[in-house]
Amino acid sequence: MGLKDMELKAEKIKIFNQGKIETVSDLVIPIKNIKKNKQLLLKADRDWLLFPGLIDPHVHVRDFEQSHKEDFLSVSQAAAAGGYVYFIDMPNSQPPVVDLKTLSKRVKAANLSCLECGFHFGASSQDNLEAILEAAKNNKVHSVKLYLNHTTGDLLIENQKLLEKYFRNIDLISVHAEQEKIDLVIKLAKKYGTKLYLCHVRGREELEKIRPYKLKYPNRFFIEVTLHHLFLTKQADDDAFKMMKPSLGGKDDQAALWQGIKQGVVDTIGTDHAPHLIKEKKSKEPPFGVPGIETSMALMMQAYLEKNITLQQIFYLMVKNPAQIFKIGENYNYCYNPNQIKTKLRDFVIVDLSSKHTLKQRGIKSKAKWSPFEDWSLIGWPKITVAGGRLVYSDYNQNMID
Ligand code: NCD
Ligand code: ZN
Ligand code: ZN
Ligand code: ZN
Repeated sequence: MGLKDMELKAEKIKIFNQGKIETVSDLVIPIKNIKKNKQLLLKADRDWLLFPGLIDPHVHVRDFEQSHKEDFLSVSQAAAAGGYVYFIDMPNSQPPVVDLKTLSKRVKAANLSCLECGFHFGASSQDNLEAILEAAKNNKVHSVKLYLNHTTGDLLIENQKLLEKYFRNIDLISVHAEQEKIDLVIKLAKKYGTKLYLCHVRGREELEKIRPYKLKYPNRFFIEVTLHHLFLTKQADDDAFKMMKPSLGGKDDQAALWQGIKQGVVDTIGTDHAPHLIKEKKSKEPPFGVPGIETSMALMMQAYLEKNITLQQIFYLMVKNPAQIFKIGENYNYCYNPNQIKTKLRDFVIVDLSSKHTLKQRGIKSKAKWSPFEDWSLIGWPKITVAGGRLVYSDYNQNMID
């Protein structure tokens, strides 16, 4: 049977379906933007797996005055190459996203993105609650971000009264909180019933503090961990390229995070993709942050093959939970329905579980042009990413995308 234009046809491909893997012999998926007269015939003679497209709840897009580091186009291409179909931008841009005018500029800038995306709106050190409440009506605004410690940007909130006001009035707060600031935000969230999303939880101590609240109020406290805290530990010879907030932990921290995943205490994996240029990292006062959006799928697939995590856990951490917590997608559910595979499969990634590559060999899409994982030889890189029914990444044939 001939293949029609603009179809993706996959033979003998493995599909992740409700926690199990099925092999489908003849899969035909309509795609909107494969170039005319081209078809995508995927012969899965190798070990290929079709998995739901990932959602990244924590991305620093940088666009506006720091677009030399990254913009919506470059970050979305990097994300698509990493198997993502949706991401949420952080507000610590320059200027920061703390007022409605900047938000609408941000939304406009995001038109360049090849993926759908959303925004965390920033809480300012100057009371901007009015703008926050107005912004919250926009369904692309997924939470309000509060910075309680020094990090990139200047959204640090130090005024206790203002902090209480935010907790009293905001429904879902995402926080950058380290050390004693973790105790503080837990206390405030308890006092006011605020939903609290704790970004980039670093290690054992942090997890121990939050765990009792997570267990007692599973729908009010949410724990995010990053790939770099899961896969890297602090080393004596670490340079600026291993500097980020919160800093890397030791082996015990790393073990605690993996254990948190096994125990179901961790809700999401975010990249905290925080691109800075090589020359900025080599400067006298290097900025904090590391890029990560292109490597997370391969890192997690590698962990799956090494039996450190199940596909079902990856699905919850990187698709289902972020969608539910931040109300993304139809019924907050980016999960594909196996009965609609032939007609409605719109957000997915196909990964190659048979060949090893490094990120460098693949070509780095982020403007950062480096990665803490760039020389890691990994299995499980995306071959094809489809978002919203459109082909957004293909290493199969780069000329396919219209
Ligand atoms: C982030 C950045 O560069 O924007 N840096 C980082 O080290 N994680 C900010 C942040 O998430 O704290
Ligand atoms: Zn942070
Ligand atoms: Zn951070
Ligand atoms: Zn961050």
